[in-house]
Amino acid sequence: MAPGAVTPAEAATPAPAKAVPVAVNPAQAALDASIARFVAANPKSGELHELATSSMPGGNTRTQLHASPFPMCMRSGKDYQVTSEDGVTYTDFVGELTAAVFGHSHPLIIESMIKALTTVGINLGATIAQEHVHAAAMCERFSLDRIRFTNCGTEANLHALAGARAFTGKRKVVVFSGGYHGGVLMFSGGEPAVNNVDRDDFIVAKFNDIESAQAAIRQEGVAAVLIEGMQGGPGAVPGKPEFLKAIEAAAKEAGVVFILDEVMTSRVAPGGLAELHGLKPDMKSFGKYLGGGLAFGAFGGRADIMATYDPRPSSTSTTFLTHHGTFNNNTLAMYVGHVGLTQIYTPEACTEFNAMGVKWLSDLAEVTKGTKMCFTGVGTVLGSHFTAEGLQTIERETPEDWTLKELFWFEMMEDNFWITRRGSIALCMGTPESELQRFVGCVEAFLKRHASLVSL
Ligand SMILES: Cc1ncc(COP(=O)(O)O)c(C=O)c1O
Repeated sequence: MAPGAVTPAEAATPAPAKAVPVAVNPAQAALDASIARFVAANPKSGELHELATSSMPGGNTRTQLHASPFPMCMRSGKDYQVTSEDGVTYTDFVGELTAAVFGHSHPLIIESMIKALTTVGINLGATIAQEHVHAAAMCERFSLDRIRFTNCGTEANLHALAGARAFTGKRKVVVFSGGYHGGVLMFSGGEPAVNNVDRDDFIVAKFNDIESAQAAIRQEGVAAVLIEGMQGGPGAVPGKPEFLKAIEAAAKEAGVVFILDEVMTSRVAPGGLAELHGLKPDMKSFGKYLGGGLAFGAFGGRADIMATYDPRPSSTSTTFLTHHGTFNNNTLAMYVGHVGLTQIYTPEACTEFNAMGVKWLSDLAEVTKGTKMCFTGVGTVLGSHFTAEGLQTIERETPEDWTLKELFWFEMMEDNFWITRRGSIALCMGTPESELQRFVGCVEAFLKRHASLVSL
C-alpha cells in the first residue's frame, strides 16, 4: 500500500471531531433563517411546486419565475395586489415585469375584453378594422411612420432586426452587455446566451461606455444597433442620456439602423424613453402593457425601413420580408390594448404616474443613505441593489451582494410586498401612496434590523 494511502475501512471511519470553531457568515445565517420561515409559512406553494415537477422540468415554464427552495405560487390578482395559494395578499411590486401597468382587474380592461369577446369574437382569420385603429394610435403616440404587430417583445425585436438587415444588406448587430431583448436574444452574461439565435452575428459592447459603443458601431458589416434605454436585467440600470445620444449619432454617421427596445420603457413617459431623452431612433420595439395585459408585441419606425415588409409590388423592389403569426392581429389584444393606451394610460395619466415613481425613488434614496443598499430606475420601474461600497450607480459588471439581495426579498415578502427575486419593481397604476410609504418604512426597518450587515 502506498505511503499515506488510507484503507477503505479507515476512509469510512470519520476522524474524531476536533473542537474547531466553524466560521458562520452572519448574512448567510440571516438568509437561512428567513428561508426556513418562508418554507414554514408557504406549504401549499411548496406542495404545488413538487407536483409541477412531474410535468415540467424543474416545475417551471418561465425561468424568470424559478426560485429555490420553491417559487411562491400565486392564486389571483386584484387591482394592485396579488394573493398566493397560501392565502397571503401582497402589494404587487413585480407588476408582471412592467406589463401590469393597469393592475389586475381594471374595470375598463375587463369591460373591453368582454365586449370584444361578445361582439367581435376570438380571432377571425382575416384582417380586422381595429388593427389599423390600434396601429394609428401607437404610431401617433410613439412617433412612428409604420408599425406591425407580433405576439411578444422577443418577436418584435427579431422582426425589427430582420427589417434592418434587409434594408442595409448587412448582418451584424451591436448589442450591449447586460442587455435583454427576449428569450432568444439575451446578453445578460456579457455575451450571446447559448440558446440565442444568430449567435455569431452580434458584437457585444459595454453599456454606458461611449467609446466601446462607437468602436462597435463603426465596424464593417453592421446593420443595426439594438439597445434598451434602461437595462432591465441588471435591475433597472438607466442608460446615461449622453451615452444614448452618442449611440444615435454614431449610428447615423455609420448608416447603421438605431433600434430602441422600448418593450419595458415605453411606459416611462407618454412617448416612451425616447421622448424622455429626446431620441429619434430609426426603429422601436414594444410589448408588455400595450396589449392591455394580453400577449403582445410590435415593431415600427421609419417608413423606408418598414417598407421592407410591404407585400405590394413596387417599382423599386419585387421582394419583401414575410411576417407570419397566427395571433399577430388577435382580436382581444387589438381592442383591449387600444383601450388601455387611449383611455387608461393617457399621456396625462402616464406623466402623473411616473412623477409618483420619481418622488418615491428620492424617498428611498433618503432612507438608504449610508448603507450598502441603493435603488436605481426611471419613473415607476426600479431596481434595488446591495454593494460593499454603497455605490449609487450600478452597471451589469458591478459586483453585488446576492446574499443581502435574497435576504431582502424573503423579508419583504414577510412584510407583504411581492418584488422580483433580483430586486426589480414595476408599479401598477392605482397603488396607494400609503403602500409606497409603508414600503419606505419597511426598507428603513430592514436596514436598521440588519445594521451590522448593511452599514458602510
Ligand atoms: C427590454 C425587453 N425586450 C424584450 C423583451 C421580450 O418580451 P417578451 O417577453 O414579450 O417576449 C423583454 C421582456 O421582458 C424586455 O424586457
